[in-house]
Amino acid sequence: MNAEGTAVDAHREVPAPPAGRAVLEARDVVVAYGGVRAVDGMSIEVHAGQAVGLIGPNGAGKSSFLASLGGQQRAAAGRIVLDGHDVTRLPAHRRARLGMVRTFQMTSEFGGMTTFENLLAAGVGVEGASLANVVFRRRSQRDLDRRVHARVWEVLDRFEATHIADLYGRELSGGQRRLVEIMRCLMRSPNVLLLDEPMVGVAPHLVQRLVGDLKSLRDDGIALVIVEHALEVVQELCDHVNVMGLGRLIAAGTYDEVVRDPAVQAAYLG
Ligand SMILES: Nc1ncnc2c1ncn2[C@@H]1O[C@H](COP(=O)(O)OP(=O)(O)O)[C@@H](O)[C@H]1O
Ligand SMILES: [Mg+2]
Repeated sequence: MNAEGTAVDAHREVPAPPAGRAVLEARDVVVAYGGVRAVDGMSIEVHAGQAVGLIGPNGAGKSSFLASLGGQQRAAAGRIVLDGHDVTRLPAHRRARLGMVRTFQMTSEFGGMTTFENLLAAGVGVEGASLANVVFRRRSQRDLDRRVHARVWEVLDRFEATHIADLYGRELSGGQRRLVEIMRCLMRSPNVLLLDEPMVGVAPHLVQRLVGDLKSLRDDGIALVIVEHALEVVQELCDHVNVMGLGRLIAAGTYDEVVRDPAVQAAYLG
């Protein structure tokens, strides 16, 4: 309890954000499943080139909140502003066009596609490319095809992944799959990337590599919001950490600050 006798939770002071307007700002977001408020008034502010971690015990509402940012989950209340645009009511594909994309775990349908095809499919719909045009190669569309193909190679090069271009999704290791999921997002040249547990299924010796890849995106000015279970990854990657408990922000600050916070320790033990 603080001086006013209210619980110190969502209203605690957070460290001053970096100068300049936030690229992503969410205020008082609520996500409800039936009568249950899985996210109960959650706020976040993210700046370009910042990696923001979102941690908290199981069931705290992290995935639901991230999905509300990406547009996969409807916000029952609150406001989400991306680069000055109110996107609260926009579907995911419109948010993607405005520069915010969320990674998705590859489902079985991706297993039957090569990495190259996976990235190509992710590039379809960008810059006016369409599946029909990519498949049937209409003359008028060939320039566009070339641009999408060039972008695929650019992304593969950037992540030193050209050697997996012709491998099918089902042939990839856990770490390679996570990388393909991230590369699919990069086909859209996002300025905000939302990641839900990007290290799941990644072999320990490859975690460091993926952390390095994410750092390089951050250093290029892409804002990252990362839900991650592995705290050592959060510690290394995230400039700022938000801790959720029961749908609310219970602490925010640097990694070292939040792990020492009694409210956070209680939430993890509770
Ligand atoms: N689709 C859904 N339908 C109903 N309840 C859900 C759904 N998704 C999540 N929940 C519930 O919402 C709460 C928060 O879940 P979630 O956002 O997945 O938390 P976290 O990612 O922090 O583990 C949990 O109690 C969970 O059971
Ligand atoms: Mg989750």
